[in-house]
Amino acid sequence: MEKKVIYSAVQPSGNLTIGNYLGAIRNWVKMQDEYDCYYAVANMHAITVKQDPAELRRRTLELVALYIACGLDPEKCALYVQSNVPQHAELTWVLNTIAYVGELSRMTQFKDKSQKHAENINMGLMDYPVLMAADILLYQAQYVPVGADQKQHVEIARDLAIRFNNRFGETFTVPEPLILKGGAKICSLQEPTKKMSKSDENVNASVYLTDDRDAVIRKFKRAVTDSGNEVRAAEDKPGVTNLLNIYCAFKGCTVEEAEKEFEGKGYGDFKLAVGEAVADVIGPVQAEQKRLLSDKAYLAGVLSAGAERAYKTARRTLSKVYRKVGFYQGE
Ligand code: TRP
Repeated sequence: MEKKVIYSAVQPSGNLTIGNYLGAIRNWVKMQDEYDCYYAVANMHAITVKQDPAELRRRTLELVALYIACGLDPEKCALYVQSNVPQHAELTWVLNTIAYVGELSRMTQFKDKSQKHAENINMGLMDYPVLMAADILLYQAQYVPVGADQKQHVEIARDLAIRFNNRFGETFTVPEPLILKGGAKICSLQEPTKKMSKSDENVNASVYLTDDRDAVIRKFKRAVTDSGNEVRAAEDKPGVTNLLNIYCAFKGCTVEEAEKEFEGKGYGDFKLAVGEAVADVIGPVQAEQKRLLSDKAYLAGVLSAGAERAYKTARRTLSKVYRKVGFYQGE
């Protein structure tokens, strides 16, 4: 039986946080045996906000090295850079003609980013969800594992797939978002009712995958907790609850088990234990990422094989699309 297809991507902009790790990459690893997986570095999405070119190139390789360091196996899944497969841009153009300005201008992320980058509200920013739909639809993906903030974009991809299929006949698989638990609700260490963000101005709010052990432990020590002194998850204890969620995600235990473990202990001991749990996991990942980055030839080989594999699938879908819309493709 043919394996179902999974598609996902991360932008090579900003530093990834432990929330991105838990919500995205770590879950991708679990899926690589069971599914036919395509994981991209979304550099074409990244340039919808201003990027420094040299930095963009460097971050692209860093992200691929991170993918592999986290356990993605380039033999099992297609790891590639979005701009290396031209069909992404080509399908975007066709999908643009069935996407409405109204629906795109209503997207939450577009509205947020327009506010944040008021001096640079470019067409690419508005078209971002259509490019993302092209990513997903090119590979006929059934499932798209993403954080909750990307759900609306996967829904636009579904709408465009259905709209295209209705107008031109069955062409695309209609994808479904897979909103992963755990990582999806990792919150800021300083304002625990807010999602942990790559771009928080307060450096103590987010734990980055690049943070060294001391920084990780220091950030958890400074994490905001709640009144009282009991280590217990509760609606009125968002700080402690968030730390418990992080601890459990990194230790692989349940909240009940963790609550028991910290019974009678104070917040200080607890916060130190959370920091250590996180550092114990990300330390080895960082070391492996560094080792991979010193072998540029290996990474180049992985990316060219990944792009080749992606290209084969993407070309097939695009050709079908061109036929359906009536583009001449030779005799
Ligand atoms: N927009 C996604 C993000 O910022 C990244 C992305 C690009 C993506 N293309 C995708 C995610 C396709 C899933 C599927 O997180």
